[in-house]
Amino acid sequence: MGRSVVVTGAGSGIGLATALRLAGAGYEVIATARSTEKAEKLAARAEERGLHLQTLALELTDADACHAVFAEIAERTGGGPWAVVNNAGVVTPRAVEDVTEADARRVMDVNVHAPARIARLVLPGMRSRGEGRIVNVTSMGGRVSLPLNGWYCASKSALRALTDALRMENAALGVHAILVEPGFHTTALLEHAAEALHEPSTVCEQFTASYRATAVALRSTGRYASPDVAAAAILRALRAPRPKACYRAGTAARLSVASNALLPTVMTDRTKKSLAGLAPSHLGLRRRLAGMAGLPGLSVPQRTDG
Ligand SMILES: NC(=O)c1ccc[n+]([C@@H]2O[C@H](COP(=O)([O-])OP(=O)(O)OC[C@H]3O[C@@H](n4cnc5c(N)ncnc54)[C@H](OP(=O)(O)O)[C@@H]3O)[C@@H](O)[C@H]2O)c1
Repeated sequence: MGRSVVVTGAGSGIGLATALRLAGAGYEVIATARSTEKAEKLAARAEERGLHLQTLALELTDADACHAVFAEIAERTGGGPWAVVNNAGVVTPRAVEDVTEADARRVMDVNVHAPARIARLVLPGMRSRGEGRIVNVTSMGGRVSLPLNGWYCASKSALRALTDALRMENAALGVHAILVEPGFHTTALLEHAAEALHEPSTVCEQFTASYRATAVALRSTGRYASPDVAAAAILRALRAPRPKACYRAGTAARLSVASNALLPTVMTDRTKKSLAGLAPSHLGLRRRLAGMAGLPGLSVPQRTDG
């Protein structure tokens, strides 16, 4: 039997691709999905491919459920898993002030507090064995903040900071904390983001047009990498004898992080605003021109898709 690896949020997207890839590579995979039904579907998908996965239902925002599931995993693995891939995540797009406090808390809960809780649960076993890996799936958004995605970027940036600290705290004890930073991958996450941009802004009517432009771009799935690209980066992080601090998945992640670090902020801001439909021509300039022409305010383009 190979080394045991827990993968959270394995019911879809990058988590599913990772669970299947790791099982194919010989790891003993314990894959968690949010409900028993999703966990069963996941096991069936693996079986269809001739792979074996152990599956468990786990709602990550439920602290008691996390304790119970990791106690069960400790029993199954004889003291705890060799590695955990904290993959599960949610997205909360819209302008910072347009995200409700409840949604902002939820993104922090799933993307930051859940991996931190899991670290508390698995680290004692890893340290006592003198080996282990924690792979935290963040995002290029953890390094490059994007307009209309501030809360998600804040959550991934927080997880990156925690992972950096964990890496330094535990390296001498044989435990590696590793970042995997995906770029854009065709998964349900992008569709969820597009859906969240469907409702008009409640705080600024000009944002509504930007939401629509961004939703259209997010649904252009042909432009994005496969979730397998991120799964391959996760496998590299687990396989490397001396893992790097961070594995970036896909060209988008590599290019955007590099250009954000190298180019002046004025240039990167302009590009990011333009991609989000927040270019001056959409907001300030049109507003100023409207004012100069004595027109009443700026009208937002009307939806044509019903
Ligand atoms: N796709 C991208 O372009 C991209 C880019 C950068 C980073 N990432 C990161 O990659 C990771 C995987 O995302 P993905 O793109 O594969 O999207 P996805 O298909 O939506 O996968 C996210 C998974 O997390 C699970 N999840 C969400 N909330 C949960 C909770 N409270 N408890 C348990 N499970 C929960 C989801 O389960 P349900 O289906 O039941 O909700 C889903 O299986 C995330 O951390 C994401 O932030 C993705």
